[in-house]
Amino acid sequence: MNSQRVVVVTGGASGIGLGVSQLFARNGHPVAMLDVQEGALARESAALRDQGAKVLTHRVDVTDRAQVEAAYAAVRDNLGPIAIVIANAGISHAADFQTLPVETWQRMIDVNLTGVFHTIQPALPDMVAAKWGRIVTISSQAAQSGAQDRAHYAASKGGVIGLTRSLARELAALGITVNTIPPSVVDTPLAQESVRTGQFPSLDIISQAIPIARPGTPEDIAFACEYLCSDKASYVTGQEINVNGGMYI
Ligand SMILES: NC(=O)c1ccc[n+]([C@@H]2O[C@H](COP(=O)([O-])OP(=O)(O)OC[C@H]3O[C@@H](n4cnc5c(N)ncnc54)[C@H](O)[C@@H]3O)[C@@H](O)[C@H]2O)c1
Repeated sequence: MNSQRVVVVTGGASGIGLGVSQLFARNGHPVAMLDVQEGALARESAALRDQGAKVLTHRVDVTDRAQVEAAYAAVRDNLGPIAIVIANAGISHAADFQTLPVETWQRMIDVNLTGVFHTIQPALPDMVAAKWGRIVTISSQAAQSGAQDRAHYAASKGGVIGLTRSLARELAALGITVNTIPPSVVDTPLAQESVRTGQFPSLDIISQAIPIARPGTPEDIAFACEYLCSDKASYVTGQEINVNGGMYI
């Protein structure tokens, strides 16, 4: 892989996004970690810089187009044109659909779906100019199988899958591939919070429903991103790459 290519990761301060940022940074890529959690960004980026990585952080709420564009301007100035985007930032929580407040529905769509739109669209001019780009969205098994008490979450992630497939068609001739990874259960702060609040059973119990009997790790997802963003994956686009231990087949 050409390790000079600049990588943007949203939700880079925690969980899957952090694991992806760490892998690309250790592979020698300049990495921009964008997130709303400034403290975690500072802590995690310092650890990577101590290991010699070239990392930029920016506080970005992906629902705010102006914040994304300001961050991308800083990325271009400090690291160079954007070649790889991992649209990962997301939220999830359980709520009964019958009493779901409109605001809760809207917030889920704003972060998980419109946030992906804001993350991808302003990065495209760099990829078009380079005639090369890689985009990976992080969706969810919830959109594949449906999810009890997470209709709003599953709907947002279904939108991400439809967006991914459509962009794959639209951007293929420009040298840009677009794929999605829909994880099932990955051991991250988000999953642990769902267990802590009783929205998920314990990860040990969930593991009984996973053929490869453990939750995924951020690194499991990062390895798939590494492949999808490599030159070796130039013929892979519009795909759902299920990195899920066989939980959904
Ligand atoms: N962990 C799982 O089991 C699982 C399963 C399926 C899908 N996913 C998806 O994977 C992605 C990453 O989840 P995770 O488990 O690593 O969660 P996480 O909570 O550990 O990390 C998500 C990161 O996104 C950031 N974020 C949230 N809202 C944001 C916003 N508006 N703007 C910018 N950053 C924002 C958070 O601050 C956090 O750092 C999410 O899109 C999630 O839906 C996770």
